[in-house]
Amino acid sequence: MEFIEIKWQDERYGEEIELRDRLLRAPLGLTFSKEQFAEEASHFHFGILDQERLVACAVIVPLAAKLAKLRQMVVAETHQRRGVGSKLVQCIEATLIEREIETIELHARDTAIGFYERLGYEKEGEPFTEVSIPHWKMSKRIGDPMVGE
Ligand SMILES: CC(C)(COP(=O)(O)OP(=O)(O)OC[C@H]1O[C@@H](n2cnc3c(N)ncnc32)[C@H](O)[C@@H]1OP(=O)(O)O)[C@@H](O)C(=O)NCCC(=O)NCCS
Repeated sequence: MEFIEIKWQDERYGEEIELRDRLLRAPLGLTFSKEQFAEEASHFHFGILDQERLVACAVIVPLAAKLAKLRQMVVAETHQRRGVGSKLVQCIEATLIEREIETIELHARDTAIGFYERLGYEKEGEPFTEVSIPHWKMSKRIGDPMVGE
């Protein structure tokens, strides 16, 4: 398994969209709009390859100098519950620490709360509805200079 950064609109970006569409959008009867793709030019795109095939991906939106949002996290059906999602999040965190991000926030689907909690993310506030399903805001401080001292 190999961690990669995906360039907006290159060949791998097409695979990323296909994976996100199949697992996140289509089951809710949603599609991506041209405007959504255009917005993603300024986002970071990351993935995991298994034998040259993209099997997991996530998008990072820079929100402020030291704050970023993780979104569109997905692992192919064939690769779920094998540690691939955890590896992707851990590699993304290491990359963002190098880019001087200190906090990652996200909106977790109810069904994914346990996954993020295992990775050290904490729930904030009350649940809310997004794309017609329950979500929680979660966040984690990364690259804290005090950790490990
Ligand atoms: C949620 C998701 C990203 C997790 O990725 P994954 O590669 O399957 O997760 P991992 O194998 O790294 O799981 C690590 C731990 O997280 C927890 N976990 C993972 N998926 C879970 C789920 N669906 N429900 C509850 N706990 C889960 C488990 O504790 C798991 O450890 P275990 O398998 O030893 O019990 C993946 O299942 C997925 O893409 N789901 C569909 C899309 C989705 O819901 N994305 C999240 C949107 S917020």
